[in-house]
Amino acid sequence: MLLEFGHRVFAVDIDEKRVAMLSKGRSPIAEPGLEEILTRGVEHGYLSSALSLEEAPEDTLAVFICVGTPTTDSGDADLRYLMEAIRGAQEYLPHAVQIIKSTVPPGTNTVLRQKFPGVSFASNPEFLRQGTSVKDTLKPSRTVIGATDPRALEVLRGLYQPFVDAGRPVVEMNEPSAEIMKYAANSLLSTKIAFINEIADLCEAVGADVDDVAMAVGLDSRIGAAFLQAGPGFGGSCFPKDTKALVAASSALGVSSTIVNAVSESNERRRATLAERVVAAASGESAELTVAVLGLTFKAGTDDLRESPAVDVVAGLVALGCDVVAYDPFEQGKLAQVAPEARAAASPYEAARDADVVVVATEWPEFAELDMEKLASLMAGADLVDLRNIIDIEAATAADLSVTPIGKPRSDPA
Ligand code: UDX
Repeated sequence: MLLEFGHRVFAVDIDEKRVAMLSKGRSPIAEPGLEEILTRGVEHGYLSSALSLEEAPEDTLAVFICVGTPTTDSGDADLRYLMEAIRGAQEYLPHAVQIIKSTVPPGTNTVLRQKFPGVSFASNPEFLRQGTSVKDTLKPSRTVIGATDPRALEVLRGLYQPFVDAGRPVVEMNEPSAEIMKYAANSLLSTKIAFINEIADLCEAVGADVDDVAMAVGLDSRIGAAFLQAGPGFGGSCFPKDTKALVAASSALGVSSTIVNAVSESNERRRATLAERVVAAASGESAELTVAVLGLTFKAGTDDLRESPAVDVVAGLVALGCDVVAYDPFEQGKLAQVAPEARAAASPYEAARDADVVVVATEWPEFAELDMEKLASLMAGADLVDLRNIIDIEAATAADLSVTPIGKPRSDPA
């Protein structure tokens, strides 16, 4: 985004491989449109990268701190990497404004100001989604500037003036408000997903169709249709972590967070029972089942396996004694890291060969377009479990397959 706005960017990471890729203008992660921007940046001499801030240009105006804030055992955000990065920036770029992009517990910026006197801090939460990050960053729904320090305010206003010019909302507030709104937004989105997933269970119990229910509920503009897609539960590097961190931060401040706590628990329960769902659909003995799992990433359009419900499915099935074969468009030896007992396949059809059950665990568009006749002819059994509701049920049952979707009745061949 900064490169697109014409700024010079100096990128720092402690991972040598990442820095080597960035130096060549290559993207260390799979994100549509990102590599083109990075390549242009390197070619025009606007993007450089290094393993240390020591090499950063002295007149650097602002440092965006974008390090991970993973969850500790107690559910708190681990701020170790944040502190290290801030210390580095303070040492080598003492005059730069430090902009906290990382998601941090409410009150962190206040603590930072006390810990690092003389440094200008601002909170500037990030809302991009993986898979659409370039679009989300260049055309954000809103930009939040959490700053009371005059220098920080001035720098951020300058950086985000192009959004103001384009008529995009840029809102200003104090630092704790900016910190809380990020957790509040992610927790509310998580709540919608956990909520519709519980409604999906209810639909299954009475023969309703959750997609119809969600569509009709979402038509109320006060509710909205977004984030009401029932599925295997939310995953990824943000929602599971941020809901837990909100609960931990509230508890530390003596504030109750009953709703978000329930959302987090409901989601964990759902993800822990996915494998049983698959075995129940096949109504067989798990130790005798060969299961093909299609999809490993936490959602389509990314190569990220962090907190992936699809990985839960694979690991759960392995634990139940199933023989598991998995395919993902982005599988590059990653399966061996997350579930070494499972076998990797090079295509969905190769995965399905001799399988009793095929599970769609990630909503990759190619799975919605599978040739059902071909799939059925390769399988040993005839059960399809669709955890993402993307399979054409008519085509599947016409090919003599039974489909068990989420939140709607099982469909058997006529
Ligand atoms: C999320 C937020 O959307 C983004 O604003 C924030 O900056 C980072 O966290 P991301 O983790 O990339 O982004 O993915 P998102 O598309 O929000 O999906 C998160 C999880 O929820 C995925 O596991 C996805 O499959 C699931 N999901 C999403 C549903 O199960 N149903 C839905 O309707 C939407």
